Amino acid sequence: MKLLVTGGAGFIGSAVVRQAVAQGHHVVNVDKLTYAACLDNVASVGNSPFYAFEEADICDWDAMVRILDTHQPDAIMHLAAESHVDRSIDGPGEFIHTNVTGTYTLLEAARRYWDAQGKPEGFRFHHISTDEVFGSLGETGQFTETTPYDPRSPYSASKAASDHLVRAWGETYGLPIVLTNCSNNYGPFHFPEKLVPVVIINALEGKDIPVYGQGVNVRDWLYVEDHADALLTVLQKGELGRSYNIGGENEARNIDIVTTICGILDDKRPKSSPYAEQITYVTDRPGHDMRYAIDPTRIATELGWRPSVTLEQGLEKTVQWYLDNEDWWRALQARSGVGERLGKTG
Ligand SMILES: NC(=O)c1ccc[n+]([C@@H]2O[C@H](COP(=O)([O-])OP(=O)(O)OC[C@H]3O[C@@H](n4cnc5c(N)ncnc54)[C@H](O)[C@@H]3O)[C@@H](O)[C@H]2O)c1
Repeated sequence: MKLLVTGGAGFIGSAVVRQAVAQGHHVVNVDKLTYAACLDNVASVGNSPFYAFEEADICDWDAMVRILDTHQPDAIMHLAAESHVDRSIDGPGEFIHTNVTGTYTLLEAARRYWDAQGKPEGFRFHHISTDEVFGSLGETGQFTETTPYDPRSPYSASKAASDHLVRAWGETYGLPIVLTNCSNNYGPFHFPEKLVPVVIINALEGKDIPVYGQGVNVRDWLYVEDHADALLTVLQKGELGRSYNIGGENEARNIDIVTTICGILDDKRPKSSPYAEQITYVTDRPGHDMRYAIDPTRIATELGWRPSVTLEQGLEKTVQWYLDNEDWWRALQARSGVGERLGKTG
């Protein structure tokens, strides 16, 4: 297949690009190269005849039309987004612009292209979204595909809006869509402003390891390569118009993630005192959702997808990757906002 992947220079998009090329697909990576992007993430496929890169903004109608007409993809995998909740609290406008207006622009360009092609049934617009659209759970329960939307941050509200637009384009115009809502990802090439890389990097640099509130917020963690595998599975085997929740059935409190990483570092890069002594509790994020948990029954039973690694195995691989790739994360530390506490005020 020929895939157009938006946001392919980001964390998850780059994993999709690398895996898709490895599977023999042709990939066109469309990315605006915001602060969160890094072309090193796709350097391993950069010279492949199966790979092309287009620097473009998904909000730019002319660019989207030109790129679709030029590359003639069989499917669009839409991952481009503003993705950091803390940044969405400080500056929601950019999130509305990219995640809502950008998705609208891409949908319209896709509809025009699909129409012009004679509405091929096999075409897919695959929208990649988050479990955060479902809001916050109490101590029990899991999100299913029919859980009502209840977003609570500017980020999750903008993603919820984009999900609704994609469904509407499917219902109203017949555009062949599929959606996925995934839990928290972690793994190689994770931008150094998100929890897992912040913990690893601050630990290695001898800095405080910040934990929001009491560290009791629960997330359902999935290794990024498993997410990319799930996305390519849904794209090729998923039922038209359907949405699939993707999760690793790996619920953990933030503090448990942090102490596990500290323990892995104690083994791999021992020092005189345990890394956990650097843990510092800081003011919580306003509106911090308490618990997310995904019920992955649909993707498991209908498409036969399961994650390949446990949380412990994935964290071990991730810590090793950051130890082996210091040049990668050091180069990103100079970028705006990295290492600062963002999103403190509501
Ligand atoms: N990170 C997670 O845990 C997680 C979980 C579930 C779903 N998601 C979703 O997966 C997608 C990718 O997330 P990520 O963590 O890789 O994000 P990321 O921030 O690492 O990467 C986003 C990419 O999109 C690009 N981009 C941003 N605005 C753009 C625009 N206007 N035009 C073109 N490109 C643009 C950026 O340059 C960057 O390369 C997002 O849609 C996100 O909502 C993320």
